[in-house]
Amino acid sequence: MKVTVIGCGYLGATHAACMAELGHDVLGVDTEDAKIASLSRGEVPFFEPGLSDVLRRNIDAGRLRFTTDYDEAAAHASVHFLGVGTPQQQRSHGADLSQVFGAVESLVTRLHGEHLIVGKSTVPVGTAAELSRRIAVLTAGDEATSIELAWNPEFLREGFAVEDTLAPDRIVLGVDPARTDSKAEGVLGELYREIFEAGVPFVRTDWPTAELVKVSANAFLATKISFINAVSELCEVVGGDISTLADAIGYDARIGRRFLNAGLGFGGGCLPKDIRAFVARAEELGVGDSLAFLREVDAVNMRRRTAMVELIENACGGSVLGANVAVLGAAFKPESDDVRDSPALNVAGQLALRGARVTVFDPKAMGNAGKLYPTLRFAESAAAAAASADVVVVATEWAEFVHMAPEELASTVARRVIIDGRRCLNPETWRAAGWRYLAIGSRSEPVLTDRQAGLLRKTSSSRSTGMLV
Ligand code: UDX
Repeated sequence: MKVTVIGCGYLGATHAACMAELGHDVLGVDTEDAKIASLSRGEVPFFEPGLSDVLRRNIDAGRLRFTTDYDEAAAHASVHFLGVGTPQQQRSHGADLSQVFGAVESLVTRLHGEHLIVGKSTVPVGTAAELSRRIAVLTAGDEATSIELAWNPEFLREGFAVEDTLAPDRIVLGVDPARTDSKAEGVLGELYREIFEAGVPFVRTDWPTAELVKVSANAFLATKISFINAVSELCEVVGGDISTLADAIGYDARIGRRFLNAGLGFGGGCLPKDIRAFVARAEELGVGDSLAFLREVDAVNMRRRTAMVELIENACGGSVLGANVAVLGAAFKPESDDVRDSPALNVAGQLALRGARVTVFDPKAMGNAGKLYPTLRFAESAAAAAASADVVVVATEWAEFVHMAPEELASTVARRVIIDGRRCLNPETWRAAGWRYLAIGSRSEPVLTDRQAGLLRKTSSSRSTGMLV
């Protein structure tokens, strides 16, 4: 089948490549010349394991092309996926829908005959209904043109984008509740035939439910992470072990162990912005109280970053002024070069603001990190970042950091102090190699001299650090 994918960012580029992989004739459309040029050469402009292979294979097979030309898109197919971005608005924290509205207008004004537009972007509830109104206005008077709008949210995780697209946990389709002649289910059934044949659950519903499913899923995941991080704040005070606690509650199948890893909390282009947009939308709809708890989820998450900075400060004797701090990790999570709202970079930036000499290393995200934080220092390897460090901080749990040899790193640092922001290292291994190991979410033995600790007690709040209690 012939399809277009409008918007070739993370979601769109992956969807376009995967649709071609399923055998369809795909045209990807984006307004950014550089992005289209790079994708046309088979180069993915971001790091995503496996995606460039799928992209190249399908370009070579003649099933996948990219363009900036909406006329070409309108002529190419009668099914159009919409995967443009919905970034956070600076002021309201709601979703900025200008790309969604702009893309639909650019496309619809060029369409003739029968078409299906399938929204995939994460949008506030009510967006499909609003788009439908706009489409009706744009096509008014054109009796020969009929456009159906459906919503088929995407749940892909960065680092697993191809796998999540081709073998998703479920497929959700929201159709116009007022429409009796919907063709969307039949069209999607054909387009995703291979996926459905693997037995993937299918949920057919209305627009608002489909829109809400996506943001609810992300809000629930964020809530799980902040729940465990909130309990970890208690563990810091009383000396409990949050990792053991997560294991123990996670054995209950109703709770589940996944997304219960305490640490620096969630970042990235989805979870933080989605929960804020969800709250903003609920407030617009007059039901702000219903989602008020998500503000607390956000607050717990942001508090972890500050707690981490304070833990590092204490490890440096109460202040990081002039201290050498190696921050290992810049991406918001491993297997990604995405630094959007990255907890790791946020901590690095806060440390620099407090006067530390911060050196950052990340296996994939150095380029993006440098653009966002040009004043930070960057090293070529973990060992280079740790040279003369007073403290080494693990802020993103890349496998190469998890498996670092403590003995090797010991020879380059000024002081053997390691702070585990993701609770991903084995404390025993590090302690056995003579390191002082501290982790966010654990009560840590003081690393200061008695005099330093005495001075600190006067100034720092014991609750926020958990260290000096
Ligand atoms: C998320 C959703 O998982 C995905 O379904 C949706 O389509 C897009 O948003 P992604 O942003 O790629 O995907 O990242 P995810 O793997 O969910 O991780 C989000 C953040 O949570 C990361 O910063 C990660 O480090 C953090 N996290 C995750 C934790 O702090 N603890 C955990 O237990 C799990």
